[in-house]
Amino acid sequence: MKRIVVLISGSGSNLQAIIDACSAGNLQAQVVGVVSNKGDAYGLERAAKAGIETLVLSHKGFGDRESYDAALVEAVNGFEPDLVVLAGFMRILTPVFVGAFEGRLLNIHPSLLPKYKGLHTHQRALDEGDAEHGVSVHFVTAELDGGPVIAQAKVAIEAGDDADSLAQKVHRQEHILYPLVCGWFVDGRLQMGEGRAWLDGQVLPPCGYAIN
Ligand code: GAR
Repeated sequence: MKRIVVLISGSGSNLQAIIDACSAGNLQAQVVGVVSNKGDAYGLERAAKAGIETLVLSHKGFGDRESYDAALVEAVNGFEPDLVVLAGFMRILTPVFVGAFEGRLLNIHPSLLPKYKGLHTHQRALDEGDAEHGVSVHFVTAELDGGPVIAQAKVAIEAGDDADSLAQKVHRQEHILYPLVCGWFVDGRLQMGEGRAWLDGQVLPPCGYAIN
């Protein structure tokens, strides 16, 4: 069974989707550890309820990002992961962390990358008058939200949508997309190479596999 470590900062609904996919047998893996940079992240309770070991590593007391990331590498490596999954982990990572797990480090980002890297993605899509919005799962590289995109799911922006309603629509897609992509990885179908994402030996297009 492949070993997954999930990093969170908040609610952990994507963590829950991955835990549920493992329990249902849709994802042939086990979440062996959950690491949070915030002690009050609700995802920690979700993990505890599922009997998964948790660890909190606050950035307080670390002089710079690199020394925090070095401690984070050690914490994550303690779980001997095959795959490291960022699920709402709201910290900018340095090459110290990214380099330790590159090629087996995934992130989910609430926009159709390369659009709207960074924060407030739902509001920015609304402000631009976009007709569609969505979510991307990508391999993590040292460039913020810039690694090769693996897959995307789209949602329509309709009259009356606000940032909250859009966030809800995007979340529903996230909970389908992330377990699916994790499954591709643990089944050995997905790799990063030559700066691109590859599925079943085929290079994926710049926007990744479109699931809808
Ligand atoms: C998700 O919407 C995820 O896409 C986003 O944080 C949320 C976490 O929700 N990630 C980012 O914005 C990363 N830049 P969750 O804690 O309920 O899974």
